[in-house]
Amino acid sequence: MEYRQNILICIVLVALSQFRFICSQPADVSNDGQTTGNDLRMMLKTVLEQNRRLTLQNNRLQKVWLGMQQMCSALSMQPCNCEQGQGQTQTIPTSLPLPTPTTLPKKTTPPLRVMTIETEGANMSPTPISVTYAATPDHTTEWIALRRNGGMWRTAGKRVKDIFDPTVYTSSVEVPQMATISSMYFRLYNDDESVNLRFNVTELDKKQTQDVIAPDAELLKINTTFVAPSDSDLNITGIVNRNAHEFDELAFVEVFFTGLNTSASPPTIFEVMNFNSDGLALSGERRTNTTSNMQISLRHPYVQYGGILTVRMPYRNSITGMVEELFYGPFIKIYSPDGKYVVQNNTIGIFPLPRQTIIFPPMQSVICAAMGNPRPEVQVLKMTSGGLKEQKETETVILDSYMNMKVLSLNAALQKKTEGRYVCRATNGNQTIDAPTEVTVLEPAVFDERKTGVTKNSSDVVVISCKARGKPKPMLQLRLYDEYGPDLAKSGMFQVWRSDPSKFTSRITLSISPVDEPDIHSVFCTSTQGGPNAAFERSTLINVFPGMEKENNWELYSRVQKAAQAV
Ligand SMILES: *[C@@H]1O[C@H](CO)[C@@H](O)[C@H](O)[C@H]1NC(C)=O
Ligand SMILES: *[C@@H]1O[C@H](CO)[C@@H](O)[C@H](O)[C@H]1NC(C)=O
Ligand SMILES: *[C@@H]1O[C@H](CO)[C@@H](O)[C@H](O)[C@H]1NC(C)=O
Ligand SMILES: *[C@@H]1O[C@H](CO)[C@@H](O)[C@H](O)[C@H]1NC(C)=O
Ligand SMILES: *[C@@H]1O[C@H](CO)[C@@H](O)[C@H](O)[C@H]1NC(C)=O
Ligand SMILES: *[C@@H]1O[C@H](CO)[C@@H](O)[C@H](O)[C@H]1NC(C)=O
Ligand SMILES: *[C@@H]1O[C@H](CO)[C@@H](O)[C@H](O)[C@H]1NC(C)=O
Ligand SMILES: *[C@@H]1O[C@H](CO)[C@@H](O)[C@H](O)[C@H]1NC(C)=O
Repeated sequence: MEYRQNILICIVLVALSQFRFICSQPADVSNDGQTTGNDLRMMLKTVLEQNRRLTLQNNRLQKVWLGMQQMCSALSMQPCNCEQGQGQTQTIPTSLPLPTPTTLPKKTTPPLRVMTIETEGANMSPTPISVTYAATPDHTTEWIALRRNGGMWRTAGKRVKDIFDPTVYTSSVEVPQMATISSMYFRLYNDDESVNLRFNVTELDKKQTQDVIAPDAELLKINTTFVAPSDSDLNITGIVNRNAHEFDELAFVEVFFTGLNTSASPPTIFEVMNFNSDGLALSGERRTNTTSNMQISLRHPYVQYGGILTVRMPYRNSITGMVEELFYGPFIKIYSPDGKYVVQNNTIGIFPLPRQTIIFPPMQSVICAAMGNPRPEVQVLKMTSGGLKEQKETETVILDSYMNMKVLSLNAALQKKTEGRYVCRATNGNQTIDAPTEVTVLEPAVFDERKTGVTKNSSDVVVISCKARGKPKPMLQLRLYDEYGPDLAKSGMFQVWRSDPSKFTSRITLSISPVDEPDIHSVFCTSTQGGPNAAFERSTLINVFPGMEKENNWELYSRVQKAAQAV
């Protein structure tokens, strides 16, 4: 019932606007509980993309449900029990198969492998969670937790070696405020391959232990080194041990290419994916009755520097209980056309940092990552009265031949200690690059009630005003009918005046004539803090005719939407 309703709402939204993408989230949950392509596209991919994507996904998930609630009420659909943060629709049969017990990995199983997950459940605070896995000695681990408020926490976890088996380790975390987490991932890396596991956070709330079914090491056959052609694209073919008919997984495969652009000065790291760039194309075709070809094309402008191609296949058979998604696959090394380097000798590039980092409660992680040859050293420094001071509390979350990534987790409760200017510094002994970021602890925007609402209501003009204060300074927008409605200022069809009364205060006003007034009967003022990606949002509804039920003018809505998009 609820599921059908969501689809219905989505169809309405699709018809209205560009929210197709957002809507496909709940509507795309197919019958076997797998989420489809669009959902995946929202997922985190790599170091460079992951901040953007993870926070975006997290924010969007929340927005979808809020948006639907508003849509529901706008369309007077009852009942609408779309709770905030409820990102997935239950379509799996309630009796899930019991996880198959597994034995220790044999030689034939992949070197990197998640074996067991254990959680103490949400009744313990902080919640202890641990993953037992098999790996080579040079591996790294990373836990990523996204909170509903937009915050992100990353940690390497605490690692313990098995006393009997030298290839087996356990990584544990203690998750503060488990109930506020919307998504959680565990990642395992070495130089040759990676595992990306997404937990089902609902299941993590229940005390339990689960064995994880090993990925089939034979699923993908692909060579792991290539030399880029000197003047053309690089085509790579992998063989998937699956009939093309069944092999609809292509939509889920995680493929991305990471390289260092040495034509730029200083060199810049770039990352391309099949859906965000035409630099990388992915396609699949039938090969035999039981196998398929997977073809990856890397365009010459990108592949010419060499780099690392990450391929991770989805493993549906492993999905049960606490495992919501499991990806596993190789790092493919692409040598530059001279055949010498995956990453050019004596180069260094730093992953871009946002100008401003906002600390969402209870804590937020600052990332410092670089790529180069030789592998750079990275450190996080803080500007103090005595100069730059190294922050020792960093943890290494990725360390391979070319990449080094550290995180520093900052506590929102310690505002004075936490705030300030930080620098991510990368060095290879010969060159050094610094990337600065300004760290601010979030003070959520508060609307000024006296200046938020209809401030003038006469026969010739209605003035709508919205004022809010917060840190960082809120960015205000007036949106038609609902929080996701089109921005009136961007459409240019209405004159919205902005003023910034003080460092932490913003105000906007809109004057409408009696002609427009019946159509612009309700406006949402939304406040965002932290830029478009790591955005913290709040909003408030302004009714021109309080207490009166007014029909929305969808024709106007879509016109404003179109005009806003064109900007
Ligand atoms: C996560 O677990 C809950 C509770 O067992 C279940 O209802 C839900 O469908 C699961 N979500 C996914 C995406 O598998
Ligand atoms: C891998 O490389 C070998 C030798 O270079 C080649 O014969 C083989 O066809 C390649 N396999 C695939 C799947 O590309
Ligand atoms: C790579 O594949 C594309 C089609 O996907 C083809 O047009 C192109 O010629 C191929 N390039 C090489 C060097 O084989
Ligand atoms: C590499 O950098 C140069 C110079 O900034 C730029 O023109 C080019 O587009 C970049 N290439 C890639 C693949 O990013
Ligand atoms: C492959 O499938 C076709 C059509 O389904 C069938 O006629 C053929 O015998 C199959 N070949 C093998 C080797 O299974
Ligand atoms: C890379 O550069 C270092 C010195 O900068 C040199 O010693 C080394 O031989 C170079 N490696 C290759 C493969 O050219
Ligand atoms: C140090 O870097 C410069 C370029 O920044 C390069 O010309 C020089 O060869 C490097 N020295 C060594 C020892 O690698
Ligand atoms: C504005 O004026 C109209 C008509 O006079 C009235 O119905 C409405 O309630 C007023 N709105 C506010 C917010 O005072």
